[in-house]
Amino acid sequence: MSPIIAPFPANRPRRLRRNAALRAMVRENTLTPADLIWPVFIQAGENAETPVPSMPGVTRKTVDRIAIAAKEAAALGIPAICLFPYTAQEDRTEDCAMAWSPDNLTNRAIRAIKDAAPEIAVMTDIALDPYNINGHDGFVEGETIVNDRTVEALVKMALAQADAGADILGPSDMMDGRIGAIRTALEAAGHQDVAILSYAAKFASAFYGPFRDAVGASGALKGDKKTYQIDPANRETALRAVARDVGEGADMVMVKPGLPYLDICREVRDRFEVPTFAYQVSGEYAMVQAASANGWLDHDAVMIESLMAFKRAGCDGVLSYFAPAAAKLLNS
Ligand code: PBG
Repeated sequence: MSPIIAPFPANRPRRLRRNAALRAMVRENTLTPADLIWPVFIQAGENAETPVPSMPGVTRKTVDRIAIAAKEAAALGIPAICLFPYTAQEDRTEDCAMAWSPDNLTNRAIRAIKDAAPEIAVMTDIALDPYNINGHDGFVEGETIVNDRTVEALVKMALAQADAGADILGPSDMMDGRIGAIRTALEAAGHQDVAILSYAAKFASAFYGPFRDAVGASGALKGDKKTYQIDPANRETALRAVARDVGEGADMVMVKPGLPYLDICREVRDRFEVPTFAYQVSGEYAMVQAASANGWLDHDAVMIESLMAFKRAGCDGVLSYFAPAAAKLLNS
């Protein structure tokens, strides 16, 4: 069905752009704080924060500060917070044992948030990189990032996070078969109500650079992640990865990075009709912060425009470091 469009001058689209009221009447998408998931970085210690230099405005926070931040986020109407740990050097090992310790930073933060702000959903990250001596998401044997042994470790990590009270698990590791393995283990352990938001279409992107600084993995990372993350040139591969993860029991899926991959967001939304999220990653955030610090971009306008773009592309929500700033602006 092709739309009927009257010829000019009967058709003057500018009639509906003439003032704010008319524009509001015909606006097709909305952005609210409920569309946002806030990724935060956790560090050891008490009552302290450390700025992340490549992400101006972002700090790593101790567990007690994370709990306070979660409470503030909930008050702003942000429905979920996503946890990433900055692991001490001595806890980064070849066997990655800290990844499934009930007392690692993530699991302590989950419990602290559940105490302080039970109304906010807690999402986690499942991958070995914050605990791995060589910065990879899986175990390294020689030159290889091994798959199946890594999946066994990811399952242990998932169960520890579910035990600590996580609402949503976010496997970001890109190993094959991990969604099915985690889902089966959750069911067997009585965690049938814990949701999985799979990093399904995760590309091997250079936009993750500042994040790796934030979790202290940049220096550690040997080589790159191209043997497990998706080639940025590939669209079909990404769609197959989403189909596979949904088939294995993911409740929601993610496309990552965000703005450079909006075509994938739209296609995932149209083809799979599952809740679809995008991750506006650290490098995307850093670009906006850097350009606005130089006076080259209008920070607030670009922030809102970029977040709205995800809604227009069909996303149900966005993981974004802008979440608190955007929520404040949207609420004002
Ligand atoms: C690690 C992980 C990464 C991000 C989220 N989880 C980095 C990577 O894959 O190297 C990136 C997030 C960002 O850049 O903001 N499994």
